Amino acid sequence: MTDQQPQTDPTTERTPQTPPASAPAGADAGVVAEDVQAREEHDEPSVIPVAGGSEYLSEGGYDVVVGRGLLSQLPEMLGTQVRKVLVVHPRALRATGDVVKEDLDQAGFNAITAEIPDAEEGKHIQVAAFCWQVLGQNEFTRSDAIVSVGGGAVSDVAGFIAATWLRGVNVVHMPTTLLGMVDAAVGGKTGINTAEGKNLVGAFHPPVGVLADLDTLLTLPKNELISGLAEVVKCGFIADEHILDLIEAEPEQATNPHSAALRELIERAIRVKSVVVSQDLKESGIREILNYGHTLGHAIELAERYQYRHGAAVSIGMAFAAELARSVGKLDDATAERHFSVLGALGLPTSYRGDRWAALLDGIKRDKKNRGDQLRFVLLEGQGRPITYDVPDESLLFAAYQEIAD
Ligand SMILES: NC(=O)c1ccc[n+]([C@@H]2O[C@H](COP(=O)([O-])OP(=O)(O)OC[C@H]3O[C@@H](n4cnc5c(N)ncnc54)[C@H](O)[C@@H]3O)[C@@H](O)[C@H]2O)c1
Ligand SMILES: [Zn+2]
Repeated sequence: MTDQQPQTDPTTERTPQTPPASAPAGADAGVVAEDVQAREEHDEPSVIPVAGGSEYLSEGGYDVVVGRGLLSQLPEMLGTQVRKVLVVHPRALRATGDVVKEDLDQAGFNAITAEIPDAEEGKHIQVAAFCWQVLGQNEFTRSDAIVSVGGGAVSDVAGFIAATWLRGVNVVHMPTTLLGMVDAAVGGKTGINTAEGKNLVGAFHPPVGVLADLDTLLTLPKNELISGLAEVVKCGFIADEHILDLIEAEPEQATNPHSAALRELIERAIRVKSVVVSQDLKESGIREILNYGHTLGHAIELAERYQYRHGAAVSIGMAFAAELARSVGKLDDATAERHFSVLGALGLPTSYRGDRWAALLDGIKRDKKNRGDQLRFVLLEGQGRPITYDVPDESLLFAAYQEIAD
């Protein structure tokens, strides 16, 4: 990290910070692709297609548009049938939600905002019920639409409301967190939490479009940005090595929301997710590879009662997966070591408490990927070569954990 970047602890739950007033635009090294650099300089958006739109709502997929100041594209994305729009946002993004609403009104729509509780508090059935009530009272029909403005929590609940209202209306996501852009808003999974656990209720309901406005990241707390980068690094290891090269070349630019380097990282991560989900719309096969680092990661989140950033937990989970793969002779030393250097360069954690193994093993055993009693992990057989691995013996997990334990 450089002097311009305050030291942040990406493991902590939300520590709001004032964004740097004038972070340097940053001259990117030659590793940033010229086309991305040029689009960034000319304020041109990039369009990343994703296959598999909703069976009811759109044919043949949708676009993820990445750029700056994208609001003018929203009307076209919503389409000509839509008259009423519910703009769902958390309190923290009230100003942005209001701008979206006013813009839609000016474009001839009838827009209403729904302010919902922040973060996971928003992913509740009562919040969905509140929005259903607003939709009902305002007589939203099948041809009206919903827009989410916020992080993954908002796109998850807004997507769920869109999936359920009249059995499915159009939704456009406007993700405002890095994690939302590269992960939650893309792929069509929606969900809410119940008392029994996170994301237990939901539906597959792809959006009709995603507008990822990079300028929204300017106000995102740095620890949220860094935490989201863990998913980007994941895409680097499971598929696109250039992501890792970019981070290694200039780790400080990777966390600078003004930089062309971060834009390229985001676009590349979205492309990886797009390719994977386009092949596996309902998570029955290859989509599992997106869970790289998540088996231990989820166990850490559970052990920490979700007071730990998801990306930080996944970062530790990837370090663990690298050690496990190395110890069972699947992964070469250099690629395993690269996990520690790349994640470390971003300020992401790669070790965890040694006294927590029993609780973590408990969490691992609850993992969705397990088949019966068989423990399964996504591991790498080499750079960009993910596999699912059935763990033959629990003691292998313990041994790998010793390598990352504090
Ligand atoms: N559907 C999927 O495929 C998928 C994938 C990954 C994660 N998720 C879900 O996403 C959620 C996590 O998403 P997240 O990390 O974006 O968290 P989040 O939505 O809780 O947002 C994090 C915090 O940042 C604030 N915030 C958002 N944008 C901001 C901005 N531009 N400026 C300032 N503050 C801002 C939010 O109000 C919140 O407090 C989880 O609920 C997870 O289950 C879903
Ligand atoms: Zn994740």
